[in-house]
Amino acid sequence: MKIAIANDHAAVEMKREIQSYLEEKGYEVINFGTDTNERCNYPDYGLKVAEAIKNGEADQGVLICGTGIGISLAANKVPGIRAAVCSEPVSARLAKQHNNANIIAFGARIVGMEEAKAIVDAFFGSEFLGGRHAMRVDLISEIEKKYNK
Ligand code: RB5
Repeated sequence: MKIAIANDHAAVEMKREIQSYLEEKGYEVINFGTDTNERCNYPDYGLKVAEAIKNGEADQGVLICGTGIGISLAANKVPGIRAAVCSEPVSARLAKQHNNANIIAFGARIVGMEEAKAIVDAFFGSEFLGGRHAMRVDLISEIEKKYNK
């Protein structure tokens, strides 16, 4: 599985560690930056990962900013993207199992490194359960279609 990863200036160190952690587990990780501490704008990085998934370059994604909120809000503007901000592993697991999220987001100023690793483990170690959840995810797509004419 290919995982796209990106972050803003608030999360450079956490991104590096999470990228290495995922690579050690055998995932192919495509890094979209940023890799410097120079201030940048989180929507640019949320868009990079969302578009990588949208165009098939990556299967799923990881987004990290200060809180995980701004960067996921930006990614969620791309149709077909379901980015879930999670600060603990139970929500991360359910974001995959129930919501079929394709991006996991979290905040480098909110969660510690070990919690961040537990979050990605829970997310990438889970599968969408389908069934009654599929119909609800389809309803999210219907909202997108309604406003993307
Ligand atoms: C950057 O200071 C900060 O606003 C950003 O990382 C993020 O937390 C926004 O949601």
